Amino acid sequence: MPRMLISGGNGFLGSFLAEQAIKEGIEVVVVDDFSTSSEINVPDEVKLVRKKIEDHDDESRYEYVAHLAARPSPEDYITNPISTLLSNSIGTKKMLDIALRSNAVFLYTSSSEVYGEAAIIPTPETYYGYVNPNGPRSCYDEGKRYSEALIMAYYRQYGLNVRIQRPFNVYGPRIRPDGQYGRVIPRFVAQALKGEPITIHGDGLQTRSFLYVDDWVRATWSMLTRDNISGHVFNIGSPDQISVAKLAQTIKELTSSNSRLEMTERREDDPTRRAADITKAKSILGWEPVVGLHQGLQETVEWLRGKIR
Ligand SMILES: NC(=O)c1ccc[n+]([C@@H]2O[C@H](COP(=O)([O-])OP(=O)(O)OC[C@H]3O[C@@H](n4cnc5c(N)ncnc54)[C@H](O)[C@@H]3O)[C@@H](O)[C@H]2O)c1
Repeated sequence: MPRMLISGGNGFLGSFLAEQAIKEGIEVVVVDDFSTSSEINVPDEVKLVRKKIEDHDDESRYEYVAHLAARPSPEDYITNPISTLLSNSIGTKKMLDIALRSNAVFLYTSSSEVYGEAAIIPTPETYYGYVNPNGPRSCYDEGKRYSEALIMAYYRQYGLNVRIQRPFNVYGPRIRPDGQYGRVIPRFVAQALKGEPITIHGDGLQTRSFLYVDDWVRATWSMLTRDNISGHVFNIGSPDQISVAKLAQTIKELTSSNSRLEMTERREDDPTRRAADITKAKSILGWEPVVGLHQGLQETVEWLRGKIR
């Protein structure tokens, strides 16, 4: 039976990847320190190791190694900058060494945040980024950029079979529901359902592009299992932008909420616009998103309703 190791596999995206792998008849081992996930999200068949990936030594053999461990929420990583950097430096090296020993396919979830304040929207993979190397968000952005560089070094120096994806704001059921965690969709939904003000950082004109989790799973599975894409980087996101104020209004309507929209201080280095150029994923993976924002939000709101009190 083929085996897959997933770091951060108990999180939102990792748990969907673990489920998909089990469906495909793969034995899954997850290493997760529960730093940003609390309840168990993975099916019982998964072997769950509660540990920091930086501290994980593993002599087992795997066919697939997927490195997802990270602290991806700005509120969370800004208050935990050191562990944010370590999971995407030492943690990345640990996962690469396990993949190298196993001669496995290595998949990494980087982030659209490597682009920083992008000058080209929708942003193609060939854009190098405009990132503050030592600002409050640098622990996340530069961790992702360093990891990409390290992964490509293993590809060039050892011929490791690597694939890098840059997800753009993925959302859906099982996303961490507490507003404190800071992801925009669960935060707005929580505020709307509680009738509290929906708080928007800045003037709300900044844009984001959102990808429903089912679309992410299809893209990720294709990236893991396809031949001849070693060393490739793919944007995995939506080319459609929506302003944060419009998103807040849409969620307010979907939840039939009386909440008012409240503008708060803009966050430092918060990108102004975000949208994915997915030309490469379309042509090489034959992938594009199929779930519209409205439909995806409805599913997510229904799931969050059961979680938020
Ligand atoms: N969801 C998105 O919109 C999005 C966008 C861009 C990139 N990503 C990337 O995708 C990956 C998964 O994100 P997610 O949305 O599932 O986040 P998540 O917070 O739900 O999951 C991350 C998981 O990693 C674990 N973790 C964190 N640090 C760890 C460490 N040092 N050792 C072991 N486990 C650790 C957490 O406990 C959590 O279960 C991350 O690498 C993230 O940076 C996500």
